[in-house]
Amino acid sequence: MSTATSPIESVLVENRVFPPPAGFSAKAAVSGMDQYQALCTEAEKDYQGYWARLARENVVWTKPFTQVLDDSNAPFFRWFADGELNASANCLDRHIGTPVEHKTAIIFEADDGQVTKVTYRELLERVSQFANALKAHGVQKGDRVLIYMPMTIEGVVAMQACARIGATHSVVFGGFSAKAVQERIVDVGASVVVTANYQMRGGKELPLKAIVDEALALGGCEGVRHVFVYERTPTACAMVAGRDKTFGEVLQGQSTECAPVAVEAEHPLFILYTSGSTGKPKGVQHATGGYMLWARQTVNWTFDLKDSDVFWCTADIGWITGHTYVAYGPLAAGATQIVFEGVPTYPNAGRFWQMIERHGCTIFYTAPTAIRSLIKAADSDEKVHPKNWNLSSLRLLGSVGEPINPEAWMWYHKHVGGERCPIVDTFWQTENGGHMITPLPGATPLVPGSCTLPLPGIAAAIVDEAGNDMPDGAGGILVVKKPWPSMIRTIWGDPERFKKSYFPEELKGYYLAGDGAVRSADRGYFRITGRIDDVLNVSGHRMGTMEIESALVAKTDLVAEAAVVGRPDDLTGEAICAFVVLKRGRPHGEEAKQIAKELRDWVAKEIGPIAKPKDIRFGENLPKTRSGKIMRRLLRSLAKGEAITQDTSTLENPAILEQLADTH
Ligand code: WTA
Repeated sequence: MSTATSPIESVLVENRVFPPPAGFSAKAAVSGMDQYQALCTEAEKDYQGYWARLARENVVWTKPFTQVLDDSNAPFFRWFADGELNASANCLDRHIGTPVEHKTAIIFEADDGQVTKVTYRELLERVSQFANALKAHGVQKGDRVLIYMPMTIEGVVAMQACARIGATHSVVFGGFSAKAVQERIVDVGASVVVTANYQMRGGKELPLKAIVDEALALGGCEGVRHVFVYERTPTACAMVAGRDKTFGEVLQGQSTECAPVAVEAEHPLFILYTSGSTGKPKGVQHATGGYMLWARQTVNWTFDLKDSDVFWCTADIGWITGHTYVAYGPLAAGATQIVFEGVPTYPNAGRFWQMIERHGCTIFYTAPTAIRSLIKAADSDEKVHPKNWNLSSLRLLGSVGEPINPEAWMWYHKHVGGERCPIVDTFWQTENGGHMITPLPGATPLVPGSCTLPLPGIAAAIVDEAGNDMPDGAGGILVVKKPWPSMIRTIWGDPERFKKSYFPEELKGYYLAGDGAVRSADRGYFRITGRIDDVLNVSGHRMGTMEIESALVAKTDLVAEAAVVGRPDDLTGEAICAFVVLKRGRPHGEEAKQIAKELRDWVAKEIGPIAKPKDIRFGENLPKTRSGKIMRRLLRSLAKGEAITQDTSTLENPAILEQLADTH
């Protein structure tokens, strides 16, 4: 092993500590480590009593629960099961008659800079009207609605409207392909699709409805009775008579009042697809009660939300972060939030900073990838450096989706946070519903690159492969030892896969996160070392290597075999590297370049542009053991450009290593 200090190792010796600013702590929801500790102790002493208290404080129940945790059918845990509530009423109706009613709920900034604002009252009316339109088209409690929308107020309205009538939404990120949309429509059994004619990103008008049409034509989507089309731009799109209707048409004549439907706490609020290590993406199913509890509680704790804050989470509603910290949490907490349609680099890489200044943003929550790309842009062009804008409104920064490297953390702290804003590095997953391991800004001393400590009640731990605790300082597998309210309930339609993926028998019934982690010897702080399964994290997006492999081999005229691994990338965290064996033999020079392009475009069509391999390398074969197993460890070394030091004696054909090291 090399003795040079790699970026990962430099974190191990990270000794910069940033205590919470005194002024911040004084007014914080959780002020000082004693308060944090007191909450942890409360949860330890009476686990169910603790969660029951939070559930009563955070959630508006139409029928109070009497049961807290039902673990009789573990790992299919149920929380607050005899209680009833409505998620949309928890985000909107609860504010009516309070000063929040006429407060701005959403400040929407379009790609072209146009701003639209809605108050809580107005949002409630729009959600109610949309809910009535869904009802008028036969959507009932328990039906699934697929949402394929740009970042807009209308996207949030569609989600909230589903929740209002007890329909389960499944949002698909607008960057996914027709094939990905079709697979999700089929798996979830959607009866209605909500989309837009186009989306505006970076000054470009990109089709959405046409992709839905293509998806529906791929077959298996006969259950889709209606497609609602939001006319985001004046450009026309093809409409199928009887099936497709514009928002204008479906909302016409609908009342702006719609009584929220009370649902059982365990009723599925949404299903969100995410990549796993095997097979097709998994439909992560979340329950209404526990999820709403954690969405609101974490907004209050982690973001220390105050009435005067202007909150901005830059995540798209197509991801879990956009669910919990755009569509539900901030609304449940009565926040004013910014929703942004565009991209951080248009019209230039100063867009985020300009928007923070323009809207007086106080809490800013984004992904390390975005920060790293904006650092790079600011380094090469002074004009887009954050120093050109007045960012003094900011009081708190957040990071999510992937490990933040200490260098990026320091830049964010200095140049965006003016050295006065705490940074909450929030670790969590689609399956978790909300934050799991994160600093509390008024309590936790920060260490760059560390997500610090679990939230009170979250029994995160690091264990070995048999579920035994690892000592601090030694790395291991990240698990959660006890169920918590906002956890995944099952994989839609595949309970066996749910059990196998998250509660493997050898781990003593602990929840397996799929990440590796290490706790620091001095503070017991967690640092996430990355996925331990075949899931890659590219720009904060989860991609399964098998998913990309299946997409590649589906190009049956060209590809005989493919293996995909990740390699570290300065900008995107990880980059996708594909090793491909063609049916026609190994290509060279221009031909190799041209086929690599063809394969990249193919993957974009099969999954979406985010899944395009950065590197494609061709060989006559893949490195395999004599029993025919692909040696992925070797491929990972090749992808990194490392010299092969592993034992290759079991390799069938050592000569191909040289071929695969060639990036053509
Ligand atoms: C990674 C996103 C380090 C991790 C909310 C996890 C992180 C996966 C962090 C989940 C963080 C997320 N530090 N790694 N603060 N946050 N991850 O489901 O590998 O899209 O398993 O949820 O992102 O990604 P997902």
